[in-house]
Amino acid sequence: MAWNTRKPAGSEASLEPHHQLKRTLSWPHLVALGVGAIVGTGILTLIGVGAAKAGPSVILSFAIAGLICAAAALAYAEMATMIPASGSAYTYTYVVIGELLAWIIGWSLILEYSLVVSAVAVGWAEYANGFLEGIGAGLPAALSGGPHAGGIVNLPAVFIVFVVAGLLILGTRESATLNAVLVVVKIVALIVFVAVAVPFFDPANFDPFMPNGFAKSGPSGSEVGVMAAAAIIFFAFYGFDAIATAAEEAKNPGRDLAIGIVGSMVICVLIYMAVAATAIGAISYLSFADSGEPLALILRELDQPWAARYLAVSAVIALPTVILAFFYGQSRIFFVMARDGMLPQGLARVSGRGSPTRITLFTAIVVAILAGLVPLGELAAMANAGTLTAFSAVALCMLIMRRRAPDAPRTFRTPLPWLVGIIAIGGCAYLFYSLPGTTQLYFLIAHIVGLGLYLAYGYRRSVAGKADQAGLNAPVA
Ligand code: ALA
Repeated sequence: MAWNTRKPAGSEASLEPHHQLKRTLSWPHLVALGVGAIVGTGILTLIGVGAAKAGPSVILSFAIAGLICAAAALAYAEMATMIPASGSAYTYTYVVIGELLAWIIGWSLILEYSLVVSAVAVGWAEYANGFLEGIGAGLPAALSGGPHAGGIVNLPAVFIVFVVAGLLILGTRESATLNAVLVVVKIVALIVFVAVAVPFFDPANFDPFMPNGFAKSGPSGSEVGVMAAAAIIFFAFYGFDAIATAAEEAKNPGRDLAIGIVGSMVICVLIYMAVAATAIGAISYLSFADSGEPLALILRELDQPWAARYLAVSAVIALPTVILAFFYGQSRIFFVMARDGMLPQGLARVSGRGSPTRITLFTAIVVAILAGLVPLGELAAMANAGTLTAFSAVALCMLIMRRRAPDAPRTFRTPLPWLVGIIAIGGCAYLFYSLPGTTQLYFLIAHIVGLGLYLAYGYRRSVAGKADQAGLNAPVA
């Protein structure tokens, strides 16, 4: 037990069968998993929040957040193919840097994945509530929103969390295939949006371009500017990292993970830039800023009600793919941390179908409570804080390994690694600074609690720490 213990690379191969995951996924599943996780509440809802903060220059916020995410995606692809084991940023940090930082990153990932699942469940619930009202079957206010919205609990959000948990418990492969079908529904909806709205494009809607300036400004909790918007819009771009958590379930991880991560990121950046430019060009941003369903609203304003309805129904059908992918990633992070002895080991057992049932159920209960009670904006900002921390750690691991083991085999090599690494680390730091002050404070508190848990449990019980003490760990490259 030592805070700087490093986990030996490749230790998963020697695990007992009930601690191993089945290899059922190939690269089309992984690209679908990536796109399924990336395209969601960010482009469908937070584009309005971003426009309220940055005006038409939200397009710049998209470009900045996309560039930083792309740099992080390259580092992820390199690390995922070098260390193709479940656990993504947590595992890379454990192998490359050491146990204490690995715990901090694992805790950040737990925050990220749980809060994304909760945030998207809340986003889904808003569309679902609207849909139910439209057909005259609306829920009473007490059951359609949390206390912040004058209700008791957001019941549809709790419902969708348990539906997705059930899919995961039924087995990874089945869920991934269903996910691929729903991804197509979502992409077609965004293409329809661009095709219908682009004829209304008017360059005058881009003027004034940057009404609130570039850097974050304004009172804590309601900051504005291009960077304040980028720090929130960042939510729209991540999700490819969920693929890296599937490493132990990929049939050919060396090739499939790189294709999955880089491919899904490129597809999403292209679609987002098209959607954002079309939305800003079609009508004044003031008409859709802060709307809960900005893209549908734009289509209604353009007098295209059928397209608006199509988009809304697609969102209700397809947003669960985002929940699915993050849920999947979340249960795997818990699984790997428990297997490493950082959390109670009884949680790490997989069922006969190769899926960690207990952790999936445990995760479902926690994220359902959050989704039922906490507002969307706060969930999304906290999720971003956790993700930015994990992305910086992955880029740092990539740079350390370039120096420590420059000739070690890598199926995917990041081009211009030092430039890409510095863009990823510096960019994530600037985005973190641009988050609301209240989020930064909550994040710090969450990590103080996490550190307490580590000292009380993982520090004494981690498998690598015990092996280190007994002199059993092989030296790491
Ligand atoms: N990128 C995911 C979304 O926008 C988290 O919903």
